[in-house]
Amino acid sequence: MSVLVTAATKYGATGEIAQAIATALTERGVTAVLLPPQQVTALEGYEAFVLGSAVYTGHWLPEAMALVQRGAGSWAGRPVWLFSSGPVGDPGKALTKKMGVDPVDLPKIRAATGAREHRMFPGKLDRKNLSFGQRAGLALFRSMQGDFRDWDAIRDWSAGIADVLHQAPAR
Ligand SMILES: Cc1cc2nc3c(=O)[nH]c(=O)nc-3n(C[C@H](O)[C@H](O)[C@H](O)COP(=O)(O)O)c2cc1C
Repeated sequence: MSVLVTAATKYGATGEIAQAIATALTERGVTAVLLPPQQVTALEGYEAFVLGSAVYTGHWLPEAMALVQRGAGSWAGRPVWLFSSGPVGDPGKALTKKMGVDPVDLPKIRAATGAREHRMFPGKLDRKNLSFGQRAGLALFRSMQGDFRDWDAIRDWSAGIADVLHQAPAR
């Protein structure tokens, strides 16, 4: 059983989530292949997929969307799980809650992949990756800087995927 784990990342935070998912799957006896979306050329040979992306201004990154389109015709019949990573800051704050809404592209991604689930994980915001203008804006939202990734939630979600695959191996 081989599962492709692939996620688009701009500054690496979502790439590390994909890495953690692949590691958690492997620890539970599922062979996981980790590749950035732009390096995914063939989809044959995988029995399931975990696709993800960082979210910027409500959208998945273009390389993840391109893979969703490239794979049209290949997703059907094999289980697909989706994740997004984005919300930063205090989860109780209105702006962070707003970030946590599903990405704008989700209906399109779901329609293309037939995914069984989408999960939104908190992300990481590093001041040094922001433009001058963005930094100025961020001064208003200091609490949004930092690493909010929830490794336990990521491991638990991955374990659930491994359990499903062990119960009902896809072909
Ligand atoms: C300009 C900008 C816009 C962002 N827009 C969103 C957004 O709309 N929704 C969200 O959940 N996170 C948003 N984020 C937070 C990022 O998704 C978060 O920092 C993520 O962990 C980055 O992952 P990466 O390092 O893999 O690119 C934004 C961050 C920046 C800098």
